[in-house]
Amino acid sequence: MQSSTPQSTGCSYIAGTGMNVPEKIIDNDFFATYLDTSDEWITSRTGIKQRRWADDDVSASSLAFPAAKRAIAAAGLLNSDIDGVIVATVTPDYIFPSTACRLQNLLGIHKGFAFDMNAVCSGFIYALVTADAMIKAGHASNILVVGTEIYSSIIDKSDRSTCVLFGDGAGAVVLSRANEDNPSRFLGGRLYADGQNEDILTVPQGTANRITSEKLQNSSTKLRMEGREVFKLAVRSISESCSSILQEMGVSTEEVDYLACHQANFRILQSVGKQLNIPAEKVLINLEKYGNTSAASVPILLDEFSRNGTIKKGDLVLLTAFGGGTTWGACLIRW
Ligand code: ACO
Repeated sequence: MQSSTPQSTGCSYIAGTGMNVPEKIIDNDFFATYLDTSDEWITSRTGIKQRRWADDDVSASSLAFPAAKRAIAAAGLLNSDIDGVIVATVTPDYIFPSTACRLQNLLGIHKGFAFDMNAVCSGFIYALVTADAMIKAGHASNILVVGTEIYSSIIDKSDRSTCVLFGDGAGAVVLSRANEDNPSRFLGGRLYADGQNEDILTVPQGTANRITSEKLQNSSTKLRMEGREVFKLAVRSISESCSSILQEMGVSTEEVDYLACHQANFRILQSVGKQLNIPAEKVLINLEKYGNTSAASVPILLDEFSRNGTIKKGDLVLLTAFGGGTTWGACLIRW
C-alpha cells in the first residue's frame, strides 16, 4: 500500500483498474428498426456489434462510481487514501460543480483536489499524463483517474452516420507513487492538439452557440462528425504520436506487448497497427461490445484485458487516443 503523504520526487504506476457499463444492451438490429441501416453495414464499416446506453437517471458520476470503487480496491487502497480525482468527460453531470467533485463526494473523499478534463476521446490520456506530472511534482500520491461518458445523451439518434458509433461507459485507474522495488512504471507520455480542426467532430452547444427551442427541435446542438476526415486524421495522428513516444523512450515497436488504442472503429485500429508495424494479436480490441465510449474506452480496455490475464505484470503497453478538438496523445506504461 502506498503512503498517502505526498513527496516531491519519484515515478508513478497504475496500481489498480476498474470499469462499469450500463446494463442496457443496444445491438445493431435496434437501429434497423427505425433507420435505413443494417447490422451488416455497421459491422463491416466499424466492427461494432453492440453498445450500452444508460437510463435517464444515470449520470457520468454515478456510472463512474462502481468503476472507481473497483479501481481503488484493486490498488489495495481505501477511498481515504485517494488524494486527487481527475475525471475525463464531455458528458458531465452539470456545467458545474465538476463531475470529479461529485464523484469525490460519492466516494466519501473530502480532501485533496478534484477537477474535470475535456479532451474528448483523448481525455483519459490527457488525464493520465496530468496525474503522472502531479505525482512527480509532489501534489499527490494516489490519484483516481477516470473516463466516464454518456454519449447517448449527446448523439442525434436520427443520424445513422453517427448514432450507431457511440456507447456509454466508465473506466478508472489509480495512479500511485511507485516505489523502487516495483518495476511497474508510467514511463512517459505526450499530448497534442490542433484547434483548426474543430468542425470535423463537434457538439456545438454552449456559449458560442446558445440553445434555443428551435435548435433543440432540429437537433443542431447534437454531435456532428465528418467521418472520413476524422478517420484519416485519427490514423495519422495516433501513428505519429505513438512513433514519437517510442523513439523518445528508446523503445522499438517489437518490444511493445500491447497497443491499447482508443476504440473508435475497427478499421482505424487495423490501419494504426499496420502503420506502426504492430501485429493484430497485440492490438487490444473490445469495441464490438461497447462501441466508442470516448474518454472511457482506454481505461475500460485496460481493466478488461488486465483482469482476463492478457496484460500481465511487466508487459510494455502503449496507450493512445485521438478525439475532437482535435486532440491526441500517447503514453507508454510498464504494467
Ligand atoms: N448505415 C447505412 N449507411 C450509412 C450509415 C449507416 N449507419 N452511415 C452512413 N451511411 C451511408 C452514408 O449516408 C453514405 O451514403 P451515400 O453514399 O448515399 O451518401 C455512405 O454510407 C458512405 O458514407 P461515408 O461516411 O463515406 O462512409 P464511410 O465508409 O466513411 O464510413 C464511418 C463511415 C464508419 C463513420 C467512417 O467514416 C469512420 O469510421 N470514420 C471515423 C469516425 C469515428 O470513428 N469517429 C468516432 C469519433 S472520433 C474518434 O473517436 C477517433
